Amino acid sequence: MLLDKVTEKFGHPTLSLTGWMIKKILENIHETLEINTAKLAQIQPDSAVLEVGFGPGLGLQEAIRYLTNAKGKLYGLDHSEYMYSVASKRLREQIASGKAQLFLGSVEKIPLPDSVVDRVFHSNCHYYWPDLKKGSVELHRVMKPEGVMVTTFKLHSIKKEVYFGPLRGKIWQPEPYIDVLQATGFKDVYMEDREDRGLKFNAIFATASK
Ligand SMILES: C[S@@+](CC[C@H](N)C(=O)[O-])C[C@H]1O[C@@H](n2cnc3c(N)ncnc32)[C@H](O)[C@@H]1O
Repeated sequence: MLLDKVTEKFGHPTLSLTGWMIKKILENIHETLEINTAKLAQIQPDSAVLEVGFGPGLGLQEAIRYLTNAKGKLYGLDHSEYMYSVASKRLREQIASGKAQLFLGSVEKIPLPDSVVDRVFHSNCHYYWPDLKKGSVELHRVMKPEGVMVTTFKLHSIKKEVYFGPLRGKIWQPEPYIDVLQATGFKDVYMEDREDRGLKFNAIFATASK
């Protein structure tokens, strides 16, 4: 029961003591992974980039460093009002200048037109989505042909979380997500084991085809 609540809060942090603790955990434990995810997305100076499930916004902060051309634009989408407010404060200057735009909403209904995004990334996120297929269809819809999508997670930690309770009942295995990506128009879908400064993690890459 308690663990179900924890899972729910990680998938949708709210303004509360638990939400605040989750924010602190994400800021302190996920920073290296978010930095690596933005790096693996191969962001070009003029890319249009979307991060889904940005949490406190560390990945957004990293991604925007690559967008050195005036055309480069950063979008973020998260369905948690609390995370939206935390990340909006973190990125306030870039939002004010129009370089970044954050949305409060779900991956199942991304508030962007078709074929506008070159790069998508998300980290520790897809296993909380209510419908993997709907999420994947939406990602593909907003991406330009040949756009690159990358997602990262720590499979060894996930397995522990499933064993101890959080994430129990979720589709956390990479294979179903890989299958869904392939079935919804992505090509060259593959997973790699990665390591950076002692952090072992996994990344799924996919290319939008149209
Ligand atoms: C475990 S947190 C990870 C946050 C951040 N990516 C990190 O690694 O620190 C999951 C995030 O995904 C967001 N999220 C979960 N399901 C979502 C959905 N369907 N649409 C948009 N955001 C979602 C949550 O609100 C939360 O901020």
